[in-house]
Amino acid sequence: MSGLDRQSYAGRVAATGMDVYGLIGRPVEHSLSPPMHEAAYEELGLDARYVTFEPTADAGSAIAAAESLGMAGLNVTVPFKEAVVHDVTLAGHAREIEAVNTVVFTDDGAVGYNTDAVGFRRALAHHGITSTDRRAVLVGAGGAGRAIATALADDGAAIEIYNRTSERAADLAAAVGADQWGGLAEATLTDACRRGDLLINATSVGLKEDRSPVPAAALSEDLVVFDAVYRPPQTRLLREAAAVGARTIDGAWMLLYQGAAAFEHWTGIDAPTEAMNAALRDRLSG
Ligand code: ATR
Repeated sequence: MSGLDRQSYAGRVAATGMDVYGLIGRPVEHSLSPPMHEAAYEELGLDARYVTFEPTADAGSAIAAAESLGMAGLNVTVPFKEAVVHDVTLAGHAREIEAVNTVVFTDDGAVGYNTDAVGFRRALAHHGITSTDRRAVLVGAGGAGRAIATALADDGAAIEIYNRTSERAADLAAAVGADQWGGLAEATLTDACRRGDLLINATSVGLKEDRSPVPAAALSEDLVVFDAVYRPPQTRLLREAAAVGARTIDGAWMLLYQGAAAFEHWTGIDAPTEAMNAALRDRLSG
């Protein structure tokens, strides 16, 4: 948390004019962050804007430009999340995840956070679930997988990691202390789902295509199933999980809560998550 309370935030806006936040990435055209953050500003009556940029130069130049223009904060998305670690002072989970999705401009320079891990944790908590004391089967060892694995390790979950490229699963398993790892063979995933009680998809499989990374036969009602893919919210994995009676949580909850955590880093104000969620769901259903 940045330590600003609501009064000092208002004071800062009064002193500097409208606060401008933004997102750098490529592409950013279909990002759901602008409507989500604008909904928060409207709900709280903040004089702020959220704009998107596709930098033509390197991420470091974009960060420096945003800072010199007096922007209040930036989100960072693909393909800049990893490169930005060299251009900011890392804080919180950004060090372990080795990627930044939120930059806060402070008097001491640009500070980089990664709110994906806390976004995942808060998405589970919203549904009354904690990963502590669970055996988590994490499918996917890319950027999203790394953030989720960090949250699982922090919470003391037992972790298994599976990935199309099994070496990546092995590397992430070593980094977070997972006790099983491997590729995506059907038998491997079926055995893992039998041992586990929390199944997470952190691959991009299911994004805009009706495919699941986990065979339907591996699913059971004993699993809580979380899919980090949020477009569409009801992925094939979640539909097949719901069909066997498993509890399901869609990826829009993680998107919401990573955004809420970014908002809180920037403003010090508790994020109005209901308004942000309504804006998000509205866009996803449109
Ligand atoms: P993100 O930041 O969204 O996690 P990423 O770092 O590019 O993006 O990771 C994408 C993930 O989806 C990886 O786990 C990737 O597996 P590989 O490491 O083997 O590339 C996984 N993925 C992408 N396409 C896939 C496919 N068709 N089948 C299985 N896994 C896939």
